[in-house]
Amino acid sequence: MTTDEIAELQRKNYNATVASLRFPNPELMIVRIKPDAPVASHRAGQYSTLGLGHWEPRAPDCQEENPKPGDEKKLIRRAYSISCSILDDQGNLPAQANAEWLEFYIVLVRKAEKAPPALTPRLFMLREGARIFLGEKIAGHFTLEPVKPTDNVIFLSTGTGEAPHNYMLWELLAKGHQGKILAACCVRYKQDLGYAGIHDELQTRYPNYTYLKLTTRESDTVNQKVYIQDLITSGQLEERLADSLDPARTHVYLCGNPKMIGAAEIDKASGATVFPQPPGVIEILSKRGFQADQPSLKLKGNIHVEEYW
Ligand SMILES: Cc1cc2nc3c(=O)[nH]c(=O)nc-3n(C[C@H](O)[C@H](O)[C@H](O)COP(=O)(O)OP(=O)(O)OC[C@H]3O[C@@H](n4cnc5c(N)ncnc54)[C@H](O)[C@@H]3O)c2cc1C
Ligand SMILES: NC(=O)c1ccc[n+]([C@@H]2O[C@H](COP(=O)([O-])OP(=O)(O)OC[C@H]3O[C@@H](n4cnc5c(N)ncnc54)[C@H](OP(=O)(O)O)[C@@H]3O)[C@@H](O)[C@H]2O)c1
Repeated sequence: MTTDEIAELQRKNYNATVASLRFPNPELMIVRIKPDAPVASHRAGQYSTLGLGHWEPRAPDCQEENPKPGDEKKLIRRAYSISCSILDDQGNLPAQANAEWLEFYIVLVRKAEKAPPALTPRLFMLREGARIFLGEKIAGHFTLEPVKPTDNVIFLSTGTGEAPHNYMLWELLAKGHQGKILAACCVRYKQDLGYAGIHDELQTRYPNYTYLKLTTRESDTVNQKVYIQDLITSGQLEERLADSLDPARTHVYLCGNPKMIGAAEIDKASGATVFPQPPGVIEILSKRGFQADQPSLKLKGNIHVEEYW
């Protein structure tokens, strides 16, 4: 494709600009996208869509693609939860969400089992000022809507799954939430905790906020991995919360690796609910009286889930 053809495709398809970019490590980005139109109305915890054309360059050392004829002019779109750095550039907790841009927290997927990853190898070639597609609609049921001001709120995530939790955490802190708040995030390496410094700072400012970081592949943790599920079964989560996991006054938010979440499936033959093994958080908490949301039945529980894949 010629430079002019690419410029024309970019002009036709893109409606937003990369306002800022931070790389906590070379495979992890915190990117702020400013749409040409005003930011669509939304709630903390929801997601939007980012897109780049097949014509854009891919980061080196990523799985090769086998494009089909006609793909070269198409836009690749993926869903992304809206994230939040919680504190502003002066270190203050803003009273209002930023109205100019949306923040996203994205990991580079270099290779994947089913098909070569299409979008992240291209997102990681972006630089400030670059143009991009941002979905006009912001959607999702993963919000603080069911939480009462005195409820305890637990955010459990792996990897970039902390993105929507960070936005909800900002909302809770900005509204002066009275219940306890605990956020735990499990990653492979310390460098994969892109917002760790901010959470450390928040813990010193907000006595009702606790942050737990877990790594699983550092030399001192790789042989004794503690997963999010283990935090619950060992009692460490309640110990750090300094309260019991009481389903009557606790909401649990789960986001990230589907194995950590462990959503049940319905067995087609028997109609029985079957949890994946080893157990994920939903099964562990279900045995303690918690109930996961069931969007297909419009049933709201006290376990709320966002699955990334
Ligand atoms: C509602 C929703 C919100 C999402 N929010 C985010 C977000 O905030 N940040 C983010 O990085 N991704 C998020 N994702 C995943 C995102 O949509 C893409 O799938 C991901 O960025 C990879 O895109 P890709 O085209 O490179 O590869 P894809 O073909 O989309 O994915 C390839 C494989 O990569 C793995 N994978 C995908 N996403 C992740 C991830 N986040 N962490 C670890 N492994 C992953 C899975 O095994 C997947 O099958 C979200 C997905 C959904 C459905
Ligand atoms: N430096 C690197 O090379 C590097 C670092 C991070 C990510 N990546 C890339 O980024 C992509 C996403 O990786 P990610 O680390 O963000 O996501 P991830 O693979 O889902 O891992 C996130 C965390 O979830 C843990 N986990 C795995 N299985 C689990 C289970 N059954 N229950 C509970 N927790 C479980 C992982 O521990 P385990 O250690 O047991 O997997 C890890 O601590 C991958 O494509 C990867 O190649 C590369």
